[in-house]
Amino acid sequence: MSLNKLPPLKDLVVEKDCSLKDTLKIIEKGGQRIAFVVNNQRLINVITDGDIRRALLKKFTLNTNISKIIEKKRFKYLNVNASLESIEKEMGTNLTHLPLVNNQNKLVDYAINFKLNKIPVSEPQFLGNETLYLNDCINSGWISSGGKYVKLFEKSFSKFVKSKYTLSVTSGTTALHLALASLGIKKDDEVILPNLTFISPVNAAIYLGAKPVLVDIDENNLCIDPKKIEKAITKKTRAVVLVYLYGHGCDVDKIKKITKKYNLILVEDCAEGMGTYFKNRHVGNFGDASTFSFFGNKTITTGEGGMVCFKKKKHYEIAKKLRDHGMNSKKRYWHDHIGYNYRMTNIQAAVGLAQMERLEFFIKQKKIMAKKYRFYLNKNKQIFFSKNFSKTESSYWLYYIKLKKKISHARDAIINILLKKGIEVRNCFYPIHLMNPYKKYHSKKNNLEKSIKLSQSIIALPSSVNLGDKEIKNICANLNSVLRKFDL
Ligand SMILES: Cc1ncc(COP(=O)(O)O)c(C=O)c1O
Repeated sequence: MSLNKLPPLKDLVVEKDCSLKDTLKIIEKGGQRIAFVVNNQRLINVITDGDIRRALLKKFTLNTNISKIIEKKRFKYLNVNASLESIEKEMGTNLTHLPLVNNQNKLVDYAINFKLNKIPVSEPQFLGNETLYLNDCINSGWISSGGKYVKLFEKSFSKFVKSKYTLSVTSGTTALHLALASLGIKKDDEVILPNLTFISPVNAAIYLGAKPVLVDIDENNLCIDPKKIEKAITKKTRAVVLVYLYGHGCDVDKIKKITKKYNLILVEDCAEGMGTYFKNRHVGNFGDASTFSFFGNKTITTGEGGMVCFKKKKHYEIAKKLRDHGMNSKKRYWHDHIGYNYRMTNIQAAVGLAQMERLEFFIKQKKIMAKKYRFYLNKNKQIFFSKNFSKTESSYWLYYIKLKKKISHARDAIINILLKKGIEVRNCFYPIHLMNPYKKYHSKKNNLEKSIKLSQSIIALPSSVNLGDKEIKNICANLNSVLRKFDL
């Protein structure tokens, strides 16, 4: 939760001579189960709904004045200029709200559990029908993979992405595994993958005994570089996985031309690409299969969850069976394949359906966010911006900046300063070939310098749909001021 969703201070304030009844009304309206008690704006105490409940169970009535029940109550508060560290220390793990006063002891702000005070890199928004549909699952008893929401979610997703054969699964990672398995990737096949990505597509190939072949990326759009793909093809190459990193599109035609020429499978990893378009078509429609993730930080979320889409019905049918333990759909407990349990639950799908209902809004918000970042950082000469590339439309899943060469050595220091200020920025993924389990997949003939360079120079900025103008302006002001410190 970020600050812009919290009630304004005035909604949490009660005067010291208020009755318990009126205080309860204020607490109810504020929605925080707490109110700050003041006398002429000066902080006197805090009162919770629990305090009132306990008072009513004793001798007090709804007409009792609250000053009677908080007389001896101890409470915590701090000066508004206190550092985030001291606020965190004062609140510990138990305190949810801490009033903040000025030098005259006047209540001027409040901190809510330190963690919540951060601007997170990405957070979900559940302001639609999520609770309604979830309650329906619980009340109906359909909590596993049976129940109406799985079908409804898949249908709604199919309609949006315009993919006919769509299966919900347990995560973006299992979607990739299922996609490659259903398309027949097997031991010793070579699968070409970008060297700068979240690790899942590389692992999915390894799960099947295939060999990942790590290829460099295009520094403009962060997707796999088509020129490098062609150089990496051997007799054993069976597939190419294209990852739309941070939601950026690329020239998919160029990649398709190569996969067609060499008769290779194309899988699109669209985990970060909900709302990404190439030539006005949503990504996930260009390959033999495509995969999506609904992890908590994704554009829509089901907690954990994913989707896999296929071009051909036959691959969809195989995946459907593999998803359900390889079981024959007409003969229960008869297994035609060694499958997996990758089924999404009705509970996850219920959340997914409610999120789909608000997807257009989420995508729109991300685009507004990207424009605002551009606007507030525009004068900064030390960075490059993420932007759309020819024929593509980015989903801006995570908005990133790229530090120019002369300042990129300071990337981690810049990140640390912003983190201390409560702004959760992130470094980019690491080049895969540098990490121990994957070193063996690096072939010297594939130059990977762009992924190394980019990995070191990128900073991903907070990108939640909840971000308001005030917060983006604040993030940019902090970023600009930190960058100025490193201006050589
Ligand atoms: C590009 C990419 N692929 C795959 C995944 C894996 O998705 P999940 O976390 O749902 O397994 C992610 C997720 O975080 C991702 O960013």
